[in-house]
Amino acid sequence: MYWLTAIVRPFKLNDVYDKLIDEGIGGMTVTEVKGLGSQRSTTEVYRGASYSNDFIPKIKIEIAVSEDSLERIIEAIVESAKTGKPGDGKIFVSKIQQAYRIRTNEIDLDAI
Ligand SMILES: Nc1ncnc2c1ncn2[C@@H]1O[C@H](COP(=O)(O)OP(=O)(O)OP(=O)(O)O)[C@@H](O)[C@H]1O
Ligand SMILES: [Mg+2]
Repeated sequence: MYWLTAIVRPFKLNDVYDKLIDEGIGGMTVTEVKGLGSQRSTTEVYRGASYSNDFIPKIKIEIAVSEDSLERIIEAIVESAKTGKPGDGKIFVSKIQQAYRIRTNEIDLDAI
């Protein structure tokens, strides 16, 4: 099982959502976030340290997926979130040790 964290443009959320539902995912968590990529526009210096002043609103989507569906889900996100311009976002992939569905006591693949 894998945990996908995708950071995408807010206006792309609907497209990504539709695509993920088509792919039959079990669920997802969505959070409004602010982030910084490799382009930095302004920095401010405060007490000798510089702080970037260019955090941009993004949407963070988190999904637990099976190994079998991992590549397919990544492709679905890339396809639906891409504009081709800087700031399209990123997908980070990590492993899940265990998963539980609280209501039923199901575990791991049955739980996601
Ligand atoms: N290394 C990172 N660690 C954590 N979050 C990141 C990282 N890189 C990007 N992000 C998140 O993804 C968002 C979008 O990043 P972005 O697509 O601008 O990355 P980039 O490396 O600048 O690529 P591009 O050149 O295509 O813009 C950031 O605002 C931030 O929330
Ligand atoms: Mg960028």
